[in-house]
Amino acid sequence: MSASVHAAAATPDQPVLVVDFGAQYAQLIARRVREANVYSEIVAPDLSASEYAALSPAGIIFSGGPASVNVDGAPAIDPGVYELGVPILGICYGAQLIASQLGGTVTRFEAGEYGRTDMTVAGGDLLEGLPRSQSVWMSHFDCISDVPEGFTVTASTEHAPVAAFESDGVCGVQYHPEVSHTPHGQAVIERWLDRSGITRTWTMANIIDEQVAAIREQVGSGRAICGLSGGVDSAVAAALVHKAIGPQLTCVYVDTGLMRKNESDQVVETFQKTQGIELIHVQAADDFFVKLAGLTEPESKRKAIGETFIRVFERASAGIDDAHFLVQGTLYPDIVESGGKHASTIKSHHNVGGLPDDMTFALVEPLRALFKDEVRKVGTELGLPDEIVWRQPFPGPGLGVRIIGEVTPDKVAVLQEADHIVREVLRDAGLEREIFQSFAVLPDIRSVGVMGDERTYGYPIIVRAVTSEDVMTADWARIPYDVLETISSRVINEVDGVNRVGYDITSKPPGTIEWE
Ligand code: XMP
Repeated sequence: MSASVHAAAATPDQPVLVVDFGAQYAQLIARRVREANVYSEIVAPDLSASEYAALSPAGIIFSGGPASVNVDGAPAIDPGVYELGVPILGICYGAQLIASQLGGTVTRFEAGEYGRTDMTVAGGDLLEGLPRSQSVWMSHFDCISDVPEGFTVTASTEHAPVAAFESDGVCGVQYHPEVSHTPHGQAVIERWLDRSGITRTWTMANIIDEQVAAIREQVGSGRAICGLSGGVDSAVAAALVHKAIGPQLTCVYVDTGLMRKNESDQVVETFQKTQGIELIHVQAADDFFVKLAGLTEPESKRKAIGETFIRVFERASAGIDDAHFLVQGTLYPDIVESGGKHASTIKSHHNVGGLPDDMTFALVEPLRALFKDEVRKVGTELGLPDEIVWRQPFPGPGLGVRIIGEVTPDKVAVLQEADHIVREVLRDAGLEREIFQSFAVLPDIRSVGVMGDERTYGYPIIVRAVTSEDVMTADWARIPYDVLETISSRVINEVDGVNRVGYDITSKPPGTIEWE
């Protein structure tokens, strides 16, 4: 959207900054700080001390990272940051960096430490009140052998003589307090916040109040449009904007014909009837099926769906006079990741809702400071039902990328029924929330079976269910056999044209979550 104007997110004045040294841990650290009711943001290491100061941090955490501080070109911090008088906590690489920049020594011993490790606490303020002997999660080869002048060593392990050290304003821990495998990790983060004098008052209610005020200020008496996808993010964004500007918001829901069973009815019911939001419901399945006819290649299908969506959305929104604002459910990880270095595109994630360059809306992005779990809490606080708030991620192109080969209305009908059963059985088994995504896939093959005395020649259904923390990696869910058995017998008995069920036991990588 080249011609659009971005809304600045209204965020609290004094964040805890998490400096990202390139490991996957920075987002986790920021989330843990927020769980302690303190607003936190991730920043790149290459800011100058005055740029850090301009962000008015209440505290700064240096994250872990894969580099060695002793290698040329290893990422570092402008030494002026240590003069700002802002409390600092270094974690793993961050702790080694503090030691090395302030005059201590970081060496490579014979053995590193990876995984669960016993740590002995000698004293100190940061670890006060915690067990003298505790288990921590380690992942390091280098270790700190001498701390800088003025620092005290407060804990050690077998292969890390300095597992924790501190001075008045600066502390470091060699281990990872942010991971759940460190039982007292959250307590250490909270202790650091408290001893740094950082007040822990940031809550979901604050976020709603702040965002409502920010949206009102941005939109004024203007009119905003929001494309609802049925997913959590656009739903919560719409509910939040509606709370701020009420009837100045119009939502557009495009029914692509590629949604899950009953999904469109539920969106309409929730937004129009329950929340009282003005909703244009566009039934556009025919447009999509025409464009998809004859297409079998996954990227061509995605492109056709994305382009058709844009045209249908444009037609629907053209009727909304003087709308200058477009609401989008962009989340904080999208912002961090799109500014990050991990850029290899495996699939073109053409999110339905992606809009063309020549639309000149100002974007309203009230969730751009939030993580997914926080968005869910905001949604619940705003009164959205669990079925929407706890909805699993669903790809923009919908069932179009879960039907291998050509997409036809008949195949969509088969897949909708099978997918409905898969999700219903998992929900009844109490597994829906612990599974990241679970769904049915309809491959483009048929096989022979026998039902009663009849030979059948039907489609298989593949069940895919994965656990994942961050979408980048995923593992197949260890669903109990009896649950799989119920899925198999119900799908075969209840869905016409299906005579076989398979379970996909591929992790990501090497597989992807979706089949196309
Ligand atoms: P993969 O299949 O790449 O999926 O492991 C990772 C996550 O992205 C979702 N996904 C998509 N979302 N448009 C979307 O909006 C797409 O084209 C698309 N393809 C995959 C997928 O459901 C999973 O959550």
